[in-house]
Amino acid sequence: MCEICEAMKNMKLHPDTLAIHAGHQPAEHLGAIKPPIHATSTFVFPSAEHGAAHMEAAYGVEGVEAPDSGYIYSRLGNPTRNAAEVRLAALDGAEVSGFFSSGMAAISTAILAWSGPERPVWYAPPLYGGTTHFLNEVLPTKGTQVETLDVKSGDLLSALDATRLETDLLPGIIYLETPANPTMQVHRISAVSDWAQMHSTPDHRILVFVDNTYLGPLMQRPLEAGADLVLYSATKYIGGHSDIIAGAASGPADVMEAVIGFRHFLGGMADPWTSWLLARSMETLPIRIERQQLTAARVLDFLRAHPAVGTVRSAHAEDLSPDAAQIMAEQTSGAGSMLAFEIDGGRPAAFKVLNALNLFSLAVSLGSTESLAEHPASMTHAGVPADQKADHGINEGLIRLSIGLEHPDDLIADLTTALAALGEASKAQVDLAVAEFNRV
Ligand SMILES: Cc1ncc(COP(=O)(O)O)c(C=O)c1O
Repeated sequence: MCEICEAMKNMKLHPDTLAIHAGHQPAEHLGAIKPPIHATSTFVFPSAEHGAAHMEAAYGVEGVEAPDSGYIYSRLGNPTRNAAEVRLAALDGAEVSGFFSSGMAAISTAILAWSGPERPVWYAPPLYGGTTHFLNEVLPTKGTQVETLDVKSGDLLSALDATRLETDLLPGIIYLETPANPTMQVHRISAVSDWAQMHSTPDHRILVFVDNTYLGPLMQRPLEAGADLVLYSATKYIGGHSDIIAGAASGPADVMEAVIGFRHFLGGMADPWTSWLLARSMETLPIRIERQQLTAARVLDFLRAHPAVGTVRSAHAEDLSPDAAQIMAEQTSGAGSMLAFEIDGGRPAAFKVLNALNLFSLAVSLGSTESLAEHPASMTHAGVPADQKADHGINEGLIRLSIGLEHPDDLIADLTTALAALGEASKAQVDLAVAEFNRV
């Protein structure tokens, strides 16, 4: 870890400050206030001895110590990526962070690093569709057993106990998303970590992986709650501008050593330009998520009051069961800006609303400056098995919104017009709902 980061840790700086300063020290870069982009594939060794030591240590040649400083080749390490990784580690409270070429690169690399025939993966559905596909369709072809935990009742600990009784192998990885995408199911990370620790043995360590994409490193800190690894699609809030694809993993040094080791050889690292954009985007992460959350609260109030809208889902307390709201209060400092709502009429009605939106862009992804709308059942979660979709309410009338940085009144006006396109709620009903909303 860099000197300035150590000093910052001792100063107990706030995340807003770390987001701007961690990972870069101008004095080390000719005074440049921003980290330079090291657009280079390889690095010149100062001597043959230095180069040999670097390479032999990288390949694990016995008795060879890696030199303290210097880089070899950008797949293995790059100063721009390093700056961004130190910044994320500061935000996550992690010993080590790594940036990847996509969220799926981070997720698949981390799972491959820590799973295997003796280390099954147990996961709490629903997960992001790409992760579900990787776990159900890809990993088993490599000899790794994958178990789906039965979390319909919302009780993950009972599901872990039940799976333990049914299978002969303990899990190598317990994999969660909390809040889950797009159902907003919430899991208590500390309880899962306690279960993992209780069932671990000296030669079989059970690791808890948490995909924290939905809330990001500032609103939820899974490592502090006991998780062993936190994963992100950094394409979302960390990148935040819909202009890059990236992923991240953060954790203690011993867990990350294997993850970064696999990244070296699978090759899914973030390039220098993406890394630079990530470092820059993290500077505004605290204010972006704060503002997006406030706007989401306004949009949620509007949707809850709208006559054509059924169940509204979000991680805000009003939309959660008392238990889930309690977990959110314990393990997060915010509820974020993702939401979903149901309308009657299934896919045709949902498509009518989506096609009538003007300001919301009809696109998958989330966490950007612009607001996005999509249909989980046929888009992000098209690959999730039908029974899991049914169990978790990913139905044909569900629309997901990612709230951006536009003015809330403009977003509400767009939703008002789009919902009126349904025709189910008469124009008069909609006007009444809007008047009521504005009055409150
Ligand atoms: C929760 C979650 N995890 C992981 C991913 C995969 O990330 P990427 O698309 O950056 O590979 C996504 C993508 O939408 C996601 O929503």
